[in-house]
Amino acid sequence: MDLPFAESYKIKMVETMRRSIRKERERWIRDARYNLFNLRSDQVFIDLLTDSGTGAMSDQQWSALMLGDESYAGASSYFKVKDAIQDILGFEYFLPTHQGRAAENVLFSAMITEGNLIPGNAHFDTTKGHIEFRKATAVDCTIDEAYDTTLDHPFKGNVDLEKLEAVLQNNPRENIPLIMVTVTCNTAGGQPVSMQNLKDVYFLAQKYGVPVFFDSARFAENAYFIKTREPDYADSSIREIVREMFQYSDGMTMSGKKDAIVNMGGFIAFRDKILFRKSSVYNIMFEGYVTYGGMSGRDMNALAQGLYEGTEFDYLETRIRQTAYLGNRLRDFGIPTQYPFGGHAVFVDARRFLTNVPKEEFIAQTLAIELYLEGGVRGVEIGSLMADRDPVTRKNRYPGLELMRLTIPRRVYTNNHMEYVAVALKNVFDRRERITRGVKILWEAPIMRHFTIELEKIR
Ligand code: F0G
Repeated sequence: MDLPFAESYKIKMVETMRRSIRKERERWIRDARYNLFNLRSDQVFIDLLTDSGTGAMSDQQWSALMLGDESYAGASSYFKVKDAIQDILGFEYFLPTHQGRAAENVLFSAMITEGNLIPGNAHFDTTKGHIEFRKATAVDCTIDEAYDTTLDHPFKGNVDLEKLEAVLQNNPRENIPLIMVTVTCNTAGGQPVSMQNLKDVYFLAQKYGVPVFFDSARFAENAYFIKTREPDYADSSIREIVREMFQYSDGMTMSGKKDAIVNMGGFIAFRDKILFRKSSVYNIMFEGYVTYGGMSGRDMNALAQGLYEGTEFDYLETRIRQTAYLGNRLRDFGIPTQYPFGGHAVFVDARRFLTNVPKEEFIAQTLAIELYLEGGVRGVEIGSLMADRDPVTRKNRYPGLELMRLTIPRRVYTNNHMEYVAVALKNVFDRRERITRGVKILWEAPIMRHFTIELEKIR
């Protein structure tokens, strides 16, 4: 008999979770104005809001914390991260930042000015936010296949080379400071980019003399998908794949809270010393001195260790298989999801799930509320609330996909928890026909409204 799959780690410390009853949840979500961000964590049983900073550090990472060097300048902890970046990612220069969006802020301060275009695959919200804040434009060149959730395609995060070349061809070079490729592409549903595509983008960019940066929050998960889906790489190690991926880039921004499995931290890495020096000024201004930039020494130690653990095949296999476990259970129940499943999350297609709720009543948010009421599970809306209003017409925007993301923290939950989530969502699915009304807005912020929005249920 073949031996079954089993997790590549065991549990040394636990945290108690509290179950609740539906009556309590009805009150809590009403008091939270139907915004799941407003819930207290102890009002949530299984928290799939995000995989960002929510992972479980290993015993090695916790012991690395104790060796943190808190010197202001030249700390050994800085050199540990520097060496890990050089060794795993192949970059000579780096700047620590407190998290991923801080890396974007520093890098873009050095590179982007008003009127610029930044093409790439679907940019993450904070990336787009930092681009638009500078009155520049993020141009989405993702392949069309990404927006059909039913279509089976191994690399839905790929950049459409024709769309990219059109941008490069039709605009002056000085208007395009960089191309940003997100690996894996969160906005498209945690979908990977193939090595071939990374290579093609890089050579196309070189032809036009434009640098390529990777938004690398989930680069190791991307490498796992290359190994398991791109035939030429089946026999390569994750580290070999990672090294090759970054050869097709000029630099990267990183949120350490994802694939480096830390609770806080990030960095920018560069090949070009001039750009590194230019960015250093902004790093000192916004983050901190160049050898700590927003992180304490102990956090840098944990980050360096996390980069090694996050690029181990056995760890990645455990992680991605858990995501697929949840995804497959949902599919068994007939629940519509983005397919193939992403690395860090399963994205439920709310439009195909709740067909009786009008789009003006925020379908994915309605689904997330129903799932919370059903089982105390917190997912997150990636749909028309998050899409904000059109800045000019102030009308609600309805994006191509209306999704509820079930995001899985690293090394935190077991497959029994996944089973619980799947059954809770199935129960909502069974009564979907009777869910006909959604929510309306009571109060909203002018941008990034989904974080703080206040809603009311329509009866
Ligand atoms: N890039 C990507 C692809 C991300 O998913 C995130 C964060 C960031 C950049 C920003 O990094 O949070 O460290 O500042 N994504 C989280 C999420 C918040 O829930 O998907 P950060």
